[in-house]
Amino acid sequence: MTATDDRRPLLDLLPYSPAGRRSPMTCHYRCATSCAVPAPNHSGNAYFGDVVRAAVSRRGVLAGLVGLGVAGAAVAQAQPASAFGGGDDVNLLADPFDPGHVVDFDVIAPVSAEVDSFDVPAGWTWAPLISWGDPILPGAPDFDFENQTAEAQLGQFGYNNDYTTIVPLQDPNRALLVCNNEYTNEELMFRDWVDAQSATDEQLRISLAAHGMSVVELRRADADSPWGYVRGSDFNRRITPMTPMRFTGPAAGAKALRTEADPQGRTPVGTFGNCAGGTTPWGTVLSGEENFNGYFSSPEVEGGQSDRYSVYGSGGRAWERVEPRFSAENEPNEANRFGWIVEVDPSDPTSTPRKHTAMGRMKHEGATVSLAADGRVVSYMGDDERFEYLYKFVSKRTYREGDRKHNMRLLEDGDLYVAVFEGDGIEDERYDGRGRWVQLTRGGRSVVPGMSIDQVLVNTRAAADVVGATKMDRPEDVERNPVNGRVYVACTNNTRRGTLGQPGVDEANPRPLNKDGHVVEIVEARDDAAATTFSWNLVLVCGDPEDQSTYFGGFDPAQVSPISCPDNVAFDTTGNLWISTDGNTLGSNDGLYEVVVDGPNRGQVRQFLSVPTGAETCGPVIADDGRTVFVAVQHPGEVDGATIDDPASTFPYDGTGQPRPSVVQVRRA
Ligand code: FEO
Ligand code: CA
Ligand code: CA
Repeated sequence: MTATDDRRPLLDLLPYSPAGRRSPMTCHYRCATSCAVPAPNHSGNAYFGDVVRAAVSRRGVLAGLVGLGVAGAAVAQAQPASAFGGGDDVNLLADPFDPGHVVDFDVIAPVSAEVDSFDVPAGWTWAPLISWGDPILPGAPDFDFENQTAEAQLGQFGYNNDYTTIVPLQDPNRALLVCNNEYTNEELMFRDWVDAQSATDEQLRISLAAHGMSVVELRRADADSPWGYVRGSDFNRRITPMTPMRFTGPAAGAKALRTEADPQGRTPVGTFGNCAGGTTPWGTVLSGEENFNGYFSSPEVEGGQSDRYSVYGSGGRAWERVEPRFSAENEPNEANRFGWIVEVDPSDPTSTPRKHTAMGRMKHEGATVSLAADGRVVSYMGDDERFEYLYKFVSKRTYREGDRKHNMRLLEDGDLYVAVFEGDGIEDERYDGRGRWVQLTRGGRSVVPGMSIDQVLVNTRAAADVVGATKMDRPEDVERNPVNGRVYVACTNNTRRGTLGQPGVDEANPRPLNKDGHVVEIVEARDDAAATTFSWNLVLVCGDPEDQSTYFGGFDPAQVSPISCPDNVAFDTTGNLWISTDGNTLGSNDGLYEVVVDGPNRGQVRQFLSVPTGAETCGPVIADDGRTVFVAVQHPGEVDGATIDDPASTFPYDGTGQPRPSVVQVRRA
């Protein structure tokens, strides 16, 4: 059934409670409670709500709503619906191609958030591939929850795993698992934990060592056998907040990147807050440094967090006690050395990871790579915070098949753009319009008035403010579909949208108090990833399908799985979109969903799996022609009030009685 069969009015007004399911515990550990403080984007960018409001005022239906900043929604409610979605450049329903379902499964029902279980469809099996604390480096000890040490952790798989990728080796039965270890839940790691300030130095060192990334060799007996990890493989590596790295690009050596320990500003140490990422065609892995701000102890700033990255006033994790550079007061530039895209070569455990300044500094969700028509490399990047922006990077040089040495340097030099979305009005009863990629740098120089190249790259958010970028509802993962060439942007949620003093709705972020998120589909001009213009539409407006404000690409809402808070995106070989979620507000555990984006079933959402209580689903990889799916189960049991004595989850149910973040392998039985 399509939109023409099942019409529903445009968005209902104010259907949401501003409170999502995100617990204060998650907020504290994940993002330094950024939800509890004003969003750091105070720029005066115009947003489409202003335009809508002006138009609506002329029509006189705005009465009483301006103060709520929900003018767009008021208009929306007043309109009948016909067919949402689809920009002028793309007639989506006319495409007779139905890619079908490469992953053969029967949809599962949502699992109550109270139920601590990992659920897969009938006929499928699951097993943890590797869990927090599993020994990976030669000589690393077995995991011992009660007696963990920093030395042991340095040789073991890190904590919370977000981006997950499988890099193939020549032998089809060998591969490298590369995983981001985004952050730690100390309250679930240490039996006697009170807070960071009263932690022992050893506990702080364990936490440090559990952050970063893990590289682990995988092997299987044959294509029909499950993968296992290789303990002590020469490929295995831990990358931590202590790993030496190198800056590349125009801002390497910039004054703002210099510290007492690195007066040249070229050799940062470590990475953390590693969220989503990407895998390059030349076999390296990109990792986004996201919520880096919460790791620096810093003086309180009057009026709250006033800098554009919320470093000041965040409080930190007491890491400065064992690593003095984490005091923003003592080493004010250290925080500038985080918030970058890190490129890691997993095939060489001795290689120095590089932070690419040309790709800008923000709370990088991830970076996914695509090739432009002329062979230049394009990377799409979300900045995950309320009212932040969507970026892309276009390399200067072109990709050369087989020339790894050349390709390894492609992300060191190129131009940075930020997205401006322009709605065409809701009179057409579609959330759609056109957009521009506005250039911030060109040929290693700034094109932002009043800002130097160093300023643009180190303070990229401020540069994007200047050019009037569109404030989005927390843009997370962004990836180009390898089959249809369109770009999908997961806007996870933004419960501040349309509240007093905050930006109101616009056509690309049309829902006030957006607690369930939406997915934007971008069609680059001429189907070229390097294009500077695009058309766009919303393919999903997430939530409970019975909620009239949701939209599923025109598919019958009665026949879709409820989906809330889209986060990571991936594709299978036929171009179906796979979405993992983080923060389901509908009373269910998070999960992984298949979304059809082409053909008559466009907008069909089907839940494939469900993760345990308190967990977020991350890093989906659809492998083996749809017969294997890898997911990272991040922060299982992260529920307010949960303790080691009274855990909310014991996933992966391995007898330790405690939750352990794990990468899971799901296979067709
Ligand atoms: Fe680490 Fe934006 O999620
Ligand atoms: Ca429109
Ligand atoms: Ca994420």
